[in-house]
Amino acid sequence: MKLFSGIQPSGTLHLGNYLGAVKNWIKLQEEHESIISIVNYHALSSDFSASLLPKQTIEMATDLIACGIDPQKSIFFVQSDVPEHTELTWILSCFVSLGELKRMTQFKEKSQENKKNVKAGLLYYPVLMAADILLYQTQIVPVGEDQLQHIELARMIARNFNKKIGKTFIEPRGVLTKAPRLMSLKNPQEKMSKSKGENTYIALNDSLETIEKKLGSAITDPARKKISDPGTSQKCNIYHLHQFFSTLKEREEIEQGCRRAKIGCLSCKKALAQNIFAELKPIQEKRKKIAENPEKIKKILQKGAKKAQQIAQKNMKEIKEKVGLLF
Ligand code: TYM
Repeated sequence: MKLFSGIQPSGTLHLGNYLGAVKNWIKLQEEHESIISIVNYHALSSDFSASLLPKQTIEMATDLIACGIDPQKSIFFVQSDVPEHTELTWILSCFVSLGELKRMTQFKEKSQENKKNVKAGLLYYPVLMAADILLYQTQIVPVGEDQLQHIELARMIARNFNKKIGKTFIEPRGVLTKAPRLMSLKNPQEKMSKSKGENTYIALNDSLETIEKKLGSAITDPARKKISDPGTSQKCNIYHLHQFFSTLKEREEIEQGCRRAKIGCLSCKKALAQNIFAELKPIQEKRKKIAENPEKIKKILQKGAKKAQQIAQKNMKEIKEKVGLLF
């Protein structure tokens, strides 16, 4: 099957991105025709630094290769290197209503952050995302839960287009992992994200000491009254993280220990820190080596862009023909 997914070059990859999306891409590239993009056009819709963006783009590429994105298996490129993405965005914007775009949760939330200056790019963001996906006749889109609504919109745009113009696009389907929405370390009601401060997330490049410190100040079960309350550990954000890094035996011990007040939050967090670091350490070591040669990374991205553009140009020609833009 054809797979497309993307990530913004936001500087730091966190555990939410890793467990919600990136780890899945690495697994799925083994069995699917995968296209993975660093979506730098999307990054322009929020507060960005023009002088930092090139460095952040290379850093994200380095992180992803260190995690296991294999340019031999996935087409791996930077969005702005394939201009067909923005070309298709315009066409698709004529197949979606303003009302639908204003209804998007992410738009509603982000436009609250700076009410007096809501950028049109913020509104158009999901149309660009639909273009990313539809341009390659994508069937599956592995993402975190926060992106599902945008995929639903891409499906709707594909339907509207097919209805008026004739069958052209495939309706893509979102694919989630078992960690579709990792929560903030400081506020378990909020999703883990880079924008809420360093102590709210664990970065893939964090040292063991940093992970211990961040987990040390992380909120455990907010609703807990007594440690012996049944189900306490299931509701706890820290226990939830154990699901992804600790063995079944360790988890059973922690759950029993927590319920019977035999182990405290401190030891529970320390064990988690060690297990998280055991998974991150090889990635960090690989990253160090790759980062020594940024020119090689640029070459990988250029090669990926060429491959992506070959598909994009072919599909774009067909789309333009169907819409009546070729004469
Ligand atoms: P972005 O860059 O915000 O995040 C990249 C991926 O990480 C997932 N994610 C999470 N998953 C679980 N828990 C969390 N706390 C968490 N935080 C982030 C996101 O769901 C995402 O899958 N609009 C997209 C990028 C994009 C895209 C696309 C994705 C652009 N075009 C086409 C798929 C297909 C975004 O900003 O993701």
